[in-house]
Amino acid sequence: MAIIERNGCFKLDTKNTTYAFQITKFGFLMHTHYGAKISDVDLAYVYPLVRNRSFINAPAEDTNMVLNITDVPQEYSGFGVGDFRTTALRIRHSDGSRAADLRYCDYEIIDGAVRPEKLPCATVNGAKNIQTLKIILKDSATDVYVNMYYTVYEDTDVITRFNEVVNKGDAPIYIEKASSLQLDLFNRDYDLVQFEGRWAQERHMKRAPLASGTQGFVSRRGTSSHQHSPFFCLCEKDTNEKAGGVYGFHLVYSGNHRTEVEVAQFDNPRVLMGINDEGFCWKLDGDDKFVTPQAFMTYSADGFGKMSRNLHMFIRNHIFRPKWKGVRRPLLINNWEATYFDFDQQKLVELATTAGKLGIELLVMDDGWFGHREDDKTSLGDWVPYKKRLPAGLKPLAEGINNAGLKFGIWMEPEMVSEDSELYRAHPDWVLSIPGRGRSLGRNQYVLNLVNDEVKEYVVAAIFNVLSSANIEYLKWDMNRYLTEVYSATLSADSQGEVYHRYVLAVYDILDRVITNFPNLLIEHCSGGGGRFDTGMLYYSPQIWTSDDTDAIERLDVQHGTSFGFPITSMGSHVSAVPNHQTGRVASMNLRANVAYSGTFGYELDINKLTDEEREMIKAQTAFYKENYDLINNGDYFRLAKNDTFVSWGFASPDRKDMLIFFVQLEGGPNGSDVFVKLDCAENAFCYKDIDGGDTYFGDTLKNIGLCFPLTQGERKAYCKHFKAI
Ligand code: GLA
Repeated sequence: MAIIERNGCFKLDTKNTTYAFQITKFGFLMHTHYGAKISDVDLAYVYPLVRNRSFINAPAEDTNMVLNITDVPQEYSGFGVGDFRTTALRIRHSDGSRAADLRYCDYEIIDGAVRPEKLPCATVNGAKNIQTLKIILKDSATDVYVNMYYTVYEDTDVITRFNEVVNKGDAPIYIEKASSLQLDLFNRDYDLVQFEGRWAQERHMKRAPLASGTQGFVSRRGTSSHQHSPFFCLCEKDTNEKAGGVYGFHLVYSGNHRTEVEVAQFDNPRVLMGINDEGFCWKLDGDDKFVTPQAFMTYSADGFGKMSRNLHMFIRNHIFRPKWKGVRRPLLINNWEATYFDFDQQKLVELATTAGKLGIELLVMDDGWFGHREDDKTSLGDWVPYKKRLPAGLKPLAEGINNAGLKFGIWMEPEMVSEDSELYRAHPDWVLSIPGRGRSLGRNQYVLNLVNDEVKEYVVAAIFNVLSSANIEYLKWDMNRYLTEVYSATLSADSQGEVYHRYVLAVYDILDRVITNFPNLLIEHCSGGGGRFDTGMLYYSPQIWTSDDTDAIERLDVQHGTSFGFPITSMGSHVSAVPNHQTGRVASMNLRANVAYSGTFGYELDINKLTDEEREMIKAQTAFYKENYDLINNGDYFRLAKNDTFVSWGFASPDRKDMLIFFVQLEGGPNGSDVFVKLDCAENAFCYKDIDGGDTYFGDTLKNIGLCFPLTQGERKAYCKHFKAI
């Protein structure tokens, strides 16, 4: 049994972890443990109900003052009744008061998972050992309830959470904040690890000790953003890849998010994660409920490596929909960096013809195929083929590409409109905008107000029309600006705080309808590269374009950071031309491929302009990737080394009999020397053979002394070593 209830104590066990809480005085839910697996159920001793005798704030009925609510670790805290930390729930009632005093009512244990309505989430996907605990809390003074759902995925050491705020009263309430996850810990000695960035440099890892007060990160951009991924870790001081305690947290959401870690007066951190409450206010009528996005968390006692592998497996098995679980996806070529806006049907078919001979399986026609799109100033919203480039439309193009032996994929940016478009001329009122204010441009375009159903239906029809007009097997769904002037004339003044979230719900609704109507379609998500790289999007599209920066050296940081929370198989990574278009850097074909292999591999350059020798290299690369597809995409991932001189990472099959090790030397230097990379992925008892004609080693040697790589003069170099147990 994953979930146990005994005398008001709840214990949620996974293979290696325990999460525990219990009903304490006056019906508060006290959090008691999250970490390595333990046996005890009643853990009342772990935290005193009062720590500071002289300044207690007791609940109203606690006339003997035995409980100081602001010190006790809680499961879900309410604002305004004595918890002075940042709280999970803030409600404004119809009389203007702001208070939520949440007390335990009831529980239920349910087999399987429970879905947050209308939101992407983890699903059972055929797995066993999954149970859900539903806890009902009630505000002591009103008919406002909170249903909390904890689903325990025993095998991957993951627990998901989401909450429903239910208004059973008659008058509306206003939800000003409703976190998805709260975790109160006891000791501040943790580091916060976050993944920050900017366009073309997303998700760089940053680690800093927790300090007193509040720290964290937010998105206010309407998307999960290039700047802060809705994923982070809390780890012990000495945690590294192989050892030490670490928590990993994800929010399954693609809009404004907030993560707060407040270290309170007794050095006890409170973690909150959910929708960003800035600009948020949800009017909840009587008899209605508000559902928060889902969050999920894992704990590893064995360092970051194990934490990432838990999350990778969980996302592959439970966030990806069944259609893509463990399924091989095509190796692609995208024409964006190959041609930009300078292409036509003939050029694409020529590209596909060469690509087919090199082992590439899908051609993606990127931006520029619609309206009269000569550059990024025009035609978004007019999803009809541009006559100049595609005189006979999409069908003959798709046929030409299929005849070359490739699948055909297409780029769309469905949420946007250009000022110079038929759509905007006909419906200037369809964009997000505030009456009486100017409209901010982002990449020369406006955001459609998808909160307006008429606009949403137009977008759905446009996508359906395109997808059914030819044999289109892949859609690159792009989103190239942030949200501003967030207002919808279709909502009343007191509901404008709902627009950001309703926008995200509308995007999810459209995606849901697309995958339901085109079940075999593969969607790759993109937002100026990795501006909406989150598990909300991964529910609909199992791969996301990781970054617009295709430079292999830059990608080492981006892919390294991303790998902490997201599986390798979710990261779009392509070999592009040199000098690189973002950095001007020149890297060898070998190095570019060795970096791009660690993702959904593909090409993004004009292969017709390459030498025969380079094309032969591509042939060998595509064969290599296909041969090792399963190991890279479904195997266990290990970050082996990262410093200013070199980076190394690898993959191992679950039985550890097959290992692929990558190494990139970042700088050439004098006095050529050797470095050793310890292969944590090796199994001690095995004997491994380097299958490309190299040496044989014992597993414990590779693990404890390591594999030797030369540091040489000259240009940066990359190596890939493939070992099999013999
Ligand atoms: C964004 C994407 C690119 C490309 C361009 C096209 O920047 O991230 O991959 O599709 O748009 O305009």
